[in-house]
Amino acid sequence: MRHELVAVADASDWAAFHAIRRVELFEAKGRFGIYNDQHPDDYADFAHPLLLKVDGRAVGTVRIDLLGQGRAAIRLVAITATEQGRGLGTVMEALAAERARALGVSELVVNSAAEAAGFYEKTGWTRYDWDPAELVNIASACIQMRKLL
Ligand SMILES: CC(C)(COP(=O)(O)OP(=O)(O)OC[C@H]1O[C@@H](n2cnc3c(N)ncnc32)[C@H](O)[C@@H]1OP(=O)(O)O)[C@@H](O)C(=O)NCCC(=O)NCCS
Repeated sequence: MRHELVAVADASDWAAFHAIRRVELFEAKGRFGIYNDQHPDDYADFAHPLLLKVDGRAVGTVRIDLLGQGRAAIRLVAITATEQGRGLGTVMEALAAERARALGVSELVVNSAAEAAGFYEKTGWTRYDWDPAELVNIASACIQMRKLL
């Protein structure tokens, strides 16, 4: 199987990217009708929206946001439900870390959903309060974590 983490580029990539995030990060958590596929952050200069593809098929999403001074946040991390629990989250996390390193990042941070903290701990992240000001609205129950690259 060929795993690749690609920059979201054409219209079909954007459609797959939004569909995975809307379903896994919003609708699966009971949040209907609020996912915004035109959110300016996805198109900002600091943002690197990425798709995990397996043999060319989109199965996962992650956005690397460059925060400056060697730090970046990964956001909206999701693997499509039918593919969860098969190691693809681990593959995507490793490829995202590699991509971040190539962008000059030495410290990755995340606002982890409470139910996903176990996944990050298994992939080498530790709890770390990197910016409590981010824990508002939809992120209010998140756990802040980081990984030094
Ligand atoms: C969290 C997520 C990205 C993990 O991807 P995945 O492909 O299911 O993870 P993997 O199969 O690579 O699992 C790696 C390890 O983490 C563990 N793990 C995965 N999800 C976990 C979770 N939610 N809680 C605790 N452990 C978890 C696995 O059991 C596995 O452990 P093992 O190596 O001992 O078997 C994926 O389940 C997902 O998209 N969940 C819904 C959306 C979400 O919550 N995203 C995170 C937002 S911060």
